[in-house]
Amino acid sequence: MKRLFVAVDLPPAVRQQVASLCFGLPGVRWVPEEQIHLTLRFIGEVNGNIFHDIREGLAEIRFPAFDMRLQGVGYFPPRRAPKVIWVGVEKNEALARLRNRVESTLVRIGLEPEGRKFAPHITLGRLKETPLPKVAAYLAGYDAFGTDAFPVEEFRLYSSTLTSDGATHTVEAEYPLQGPLTGDQ
Ligand code: 2AM
Repeated sequence: MKRLFVAVDLPPAVRQQVASLCFGLPGVRWVPEEQIHLTLRFIGEVNGNIFHDIREGLAEIRFPAFDMRLQGVGYFPPRRAPKVIWVGVEKNEALARLRNRVESTLVRIGLEPEGRKFAPHITLGRLKETPLPKVAAYLAGYDAFGTDAFPVEEFRLYSSTLTSDGATHTVEAEYPLQGPLTGDQ
């Protein structure tokens, strides 16, 4: 069995910029810099045959490279006690379409549809009993956070192994984004 997810990674300079936000709040399990990513689709545990189908199926996606910009910080779940804090993504039609292509590919392979709205974000940390006023002050302090636009030129299939020390992520496949935009994207 493998625990899979599909993600977009950030250029090192942008990842460093995001990692620079990962401090200054008590009771947070920060995402290690090398694991900072944007999840396009969490898949979860699958057996070897399905893993193979997913790895091959995603390779059939033809999608052009596009630009993305990170903007703002926020938390999940909305309007409840924050459990996760994240950096947001400026509205991005291409990213949403790429996610939809990944989703339809996975459904064609036989996975259940994800069934929830895509909320693109980059998790900074997971909170454990962090006092609310501190979370509010932290988020207010980074309200103006943003990056320059950067190119997204590939996406990746990752597996994740859970250990008592946190998760380890392994790249299972890389899928370059290339070619012109066509009508079916
Ligand atoms: P995140 O993007 O909000 O951090 C690898 O574990 C990635 O898959 C993480 O980035 C995480 O979300 C996402 N993920 C983990 N468990 C999940 C779940 N049960 N449902 C949805 N996404 C999940």
